[in-house]
Amino acid sequence: MGTPHPHELLQMDLSGGDDDWSPTPHGQLLALALAENNLVRGKSVLELGAGVGNHTILLLRQGARSMVVTEITPERLETTRSNVERNMVSPWPEPNTEYRAADWLNTEGRFDVLITNPPYMVSGKQNRRYFIDSLILDAHKRLNPGGTLVFVQSSMADTAKSIRRLEENGYAVRTLATSRGPFRDYYFEDPTFMEEIQAVPDGFELKNGEYTETLTVLCAVLQPYSPPDVAH
Ligand SMILES: C[S@@+](CC[C@H](N)C(=O)[O-])C[C@H]1O[C@@H](n2cnc3c(N)ncnc32)[C@H](O)[C@@H]1O
Repeated sequence: MGTPHPHELLQMDLSGGDDDWSPTPHGQLLALALAENNLVRGKSVLELGAGVGNHTILLLRQGARSMVVTEITPERLETTRSNVERNMVSPWPEPNTEYRAADWLNTEGRFDVLITNPPYMVSGKQNRRYFIDSLILDAHKRLNPGGTLVFVQSSMADTAKSIRRLEENGYAVRTLATSRGPFRDYYFEDPTFMEEIQAVPDGFELKNGEYTETLTVLCAVLQPYSPPDVAH
């Protein structure tokens, strides 16, 4: 088929149980950025933490050559699979997709593109940036040379820090999309979180009693690097 319009790419029927992650503004911005920038046609793609498959379906419709899709439990992965199977019917291409229950980057293979909306505010880690930092340090082990890492994050997770650390770790970085929006109710329910974000430069805006965060989709391309012979 020809190049689908972003509207067709984003039109999908998703369902999930109480335990599944329902798409939030983070996921919606990532979907929009992906729909407007085809980064995957003819490419092998790894998607971490696919949730209800909102990005999986989009990437398959954009002509990803093959996808490996992960979730933390087999049950959540089953939600991803059933949504993909229901939405990838004619005229869309037959999905070439492997589903793996896997803990973050602990999976096999190398791919042209790695895409994810990483856990952050409810990451369950003391360092809420854990999954972002893990990507910055270790995604190269899952990428082919010149591979691309794409993820979305909040300003409260310190976007400038992510860009700086990506560049320090050998990536050329560009911003694909940004959006601003009000805090979600559950942010206010975690006093530790509300305290932590005070220390993040440009983490949020507070105007007339209204808190606003900025979401950013980063696209980072691995640059060539050869370690010196003396490295050990
Ligand atoms: C922020 S949600 C994003 C879900 C979906 N991709 C979206 O954008 O709507 C993060 C997802 O990562 C999954 N997840 C959490 N910890 C994980 C881990 N260690 N390895 C793989 N996936 C994980 C969660 O189950 C959840 O579906």
